[in-house]
Amino acid sequence: MEIRGRPGHRLLIFDTPQAVWQKAAGLFAGAAAQAIAARGCFTTALAGGSTPRGLYQLLAAGKDGQCIAWEKIYIFWGDERCVPPAHTDSNYRLAYDALLSKVAVPGHNIFPMYTGNEPPAAAAAAYEQKLVRFFGLRAGKAPAFDLILLGLGQDGHTASLFPGSAAVSESRALVTASYVRARGGYRLTLTLPVLNAASRIIFLVTGEDKAAVLAALVAGRSGTMPAGLVRPAGELLILADKQAARALPE
Ligand code: 6PG
Repeated sequence: MEIRGRPGHRLLIFDTPQAVWQKAAGLFAGAAAQAIAARGCFTTALAGGSTPRGLYQLLAAGKDGQCIAWEKIYIFWGDERCVPPAHTDSNYRLAYDALLSKVAVPGHNIFPMYTGNEPPAAAAAAYEQKLVRFFGLRAGKAPAFDLILLGLGQDGHTASLFPGSAAVSESRALVTASYVRARGGYRLTLTLPVLNAASRIIFLVTGEDKAAVLAALVAGRSGTMPAGLVRPAGELLILADKQAARALPE
């Protein structure tokens, strides 16, 4: 279904989280094949949290029904907790354990956001320079990722853009570091200019604890909800299971 007031942005509802991940895996593989055919490479920023794990496991198992040219894929992250890569809270570790350790993506194609001991602000600046160099960005330009995967928090955050944080209103930097009181730690995140420059955004939303926030997002009642500010000129898909969609109007 179309999302009110957002032409080209769609919500797709599935019976189970597994069906959400299966659809996402097919879209990931399709977007990769399309970008690689057109430009010889595919750039993506992975989501953190717990929801994407099922998707990463499907991609690792090659269950997307397509052969992915992992050697032509470049892996970034949408956000990261400022913890060592081996920490159980690390979004890098989530993707490494579920996917990157199981597919033939070259190490030099993987760009972790946080390596574990640098000050958060320095890590954000360093990651921004990695983006500038990799994408060959002129001053003031944001990189156009082929695909950015995002989750949705119950409070409407996405990546590590939390309600009320300065990161949400950042309009110049590509990456920012901030202390997230609600999570008791520092986070790095891509900023909205980067999210909104993406060719395609896919939100993965599962579980009844996301029903209220998803209903607000889809109904356009998102106000200043960070996830509601993700409005790329390109395609935006919300893939939700029935539990997360239970508060939507029939
Ligand atoms: C993170 C994520 C964050 C996540 C949402 C949803 O680092 O935690 O980037 O934005 O996507 O909090 O998390 P769940 O998938 O665990 O519900």
